[in-house]
Amino acid sequence: MTRPTWVPAGTDLDKPNAARVYDYYLGGSHNFEVDRRMARKAMELWPELPLIMRANRAFLRRGVQYAAERGVPVPGHRFRHPDLRRGARDRPRAGAAGAVVYVDRDPVAVAHSRLLLTDDPLSEVVEADLRNPEALLAQPAVERLLGPGEPVALLLVAVLHFITDAEEPERLMRVLRDALPRAACWCSRTPVSRAAPTRPGRTRTCTRAPRPR
Ligand SMILES: C[S@@+](CC[C@H](N)C(=O)[O-])C[C@H]1O[C@@H](n2cnc3c(N)ncnc32)[C@H](O)[C@@H]1O
Repeated sequence: MTRPTWVPAGTDLDKPNAARVYDYYLGGSHNFEVDRRMARKAMELWPELPLIMRANRAFLRRGVQYAAERGVPVPGHRFRHPDLRRGARDRPRAGAAGAVVYVDRDPVAVAHSRLLLTDDPLSEVVEADLRNPEALLAQPAVERLLGPGEPVALLLVAVLHFITDAEEPERLMRVLRDALPRAACWCSRTPVSRAAPTRPGRTRTCTRAPRPR
């Protein structure tokens, strides 16, 4: 396969990747057949997945609106992320010189985001793991963002379900909350399995790459 220019060097194109599967559900074009195969397999078990992903993005946009309405400066039209840009549109502080730090533990998602955000002085992408919040907070980009100055917003969207009980989600949240300045707002959304108690187990079986037929 010819490697498209948006694919970071070192990416294994034979393995599905969660970020690209997510992109497929959202109707994006940054995914490969191996990702689509996995996405379709998961949909056999859980047909509503694309709808759930879009609802998640809608929540993300509302989170940005909420933050902007509470005085958090967001970069408005300067957001490269289309959903964040839509969330910021027409909001009181949109267009202010707010900085954004994106955090993910997946090197592919990080490398891809860095490619998209090249030349954007207001955005930084940090590779860090939420399960080690102390190390995450010690990242220079995060320290700069949380330093004295403008209010900040922490958006934890569709990520907390990756944290198991043994990984102490309450402690992680406490460490993050305590690090936020007083003028901070917090938006968090986590899918729950109450409506479909049998699905998480079935879904777990899909997180392994299906073999090409
Ligand atoms: C469903 S996506 C959501 C992405 C984004 N928050 C959104 O709503 O569009 C979940 C992301 O969380 C990342 N992730 C999972 N566990 C993580 C962890 N422990 N620390 C940091 N990122 C994590 C995955 O790599 C994936 O890119």
